[in-house]
Amino acid sequence: MWNIFKKEKILITDEYSIDINNIPSHIGIIMDGNGRWAKERNLPRALGHKAGVETIRNIVKECNKIGVKYLTLYAFSTENWKRPADEVNSLMKLLVEYLKVEFKELNANDVVINSIGDLSKLPLLCQKELNSAYEQTKKNKGLVLTLALNYGGRDELIRAFKKIHTDIDNGKINIVDINENMVSKYLYTAGMPDPEIIIRPSGEQRLSNFMLWQGAYSEFWYSNINWPDFKIKHLHMAIYDYQKRDRRFGGIK
Ligand code: FPP
Repeated sequence: MWNIFKKEKILITDEYSIDINNIPSHIGIIMDGNGRWAKERNLPRALGHKAGVETIRNIVKECNKIGVKYLTLYAFSTENWKRPADEVNSLMKLLVEYLKVEFKELNANDVVINSIGDLSKLPLLCQKELNSAYEQTKKNKGLVLTLALNYGGRDELIRAFKKIHTDIDNGKINIVDINENMVSKYLYTAGMPDPEIIIRPSGEQRLSNFMLWQGAYSEFWYSNINWPDFKIKHLHMAIYDYQKRDRRFGGIK
């Protein structure tokens, strides 16, 4: 069983600490920089992704430990199919391997293994492993780990618009009842809070089609570290920075 954090504050360095009572409930991460990490080491890109999985292991564990309720990892976008077939295949293999190897420990630590995106386009084996992992962990009470796979924010919105249209046609809902809450319920993330913070390593400063609706008021945290080099201390730094932000949601203080 992983050690559950019990102290009131986590000390990061001598200079600052993060407040355990103000941990974001939902963290989204755009895992970026695997390819560059591999290139810097003259390694094939697939090994960059493999190293990225090691970071996933550590960050999932830490999020569960410090009380993050939802962690959403952008693992494969609707645009990533443009990559060479070899790379796509190695990513799908890593996904299956991750689920097989990590399942026992994640389940023992009360993690829900969830996924968002159009899974129907993924290889059947991936769909099978994802469904089975979810079915066996859906009643767990710890961190909800959501893997965004064949996920795109625009695709998610189009899917929601179509479903809303169908439900209006069927008389299930009325057009005057459409509001922000209702739209949220038609997204893959229905029932989850919006991410308070979105983290993107590797130096890029864009959303890349990640959580377009849900990220309307998310705080962004960028860094030059490539995902395989992203350590627990960087997660702590991101949370520390988040805790200093003045979140006004369009209002004034
Ligand atoms: C972006 O880096 C990363 C991805 C597109 C894939 C992320 C996937 C993993 C970390 C592993 C597989 C997932 C699971 C859930 C086990 P990039 O390739 O775009 O890096 P670059 O911009 O440096 O080329």
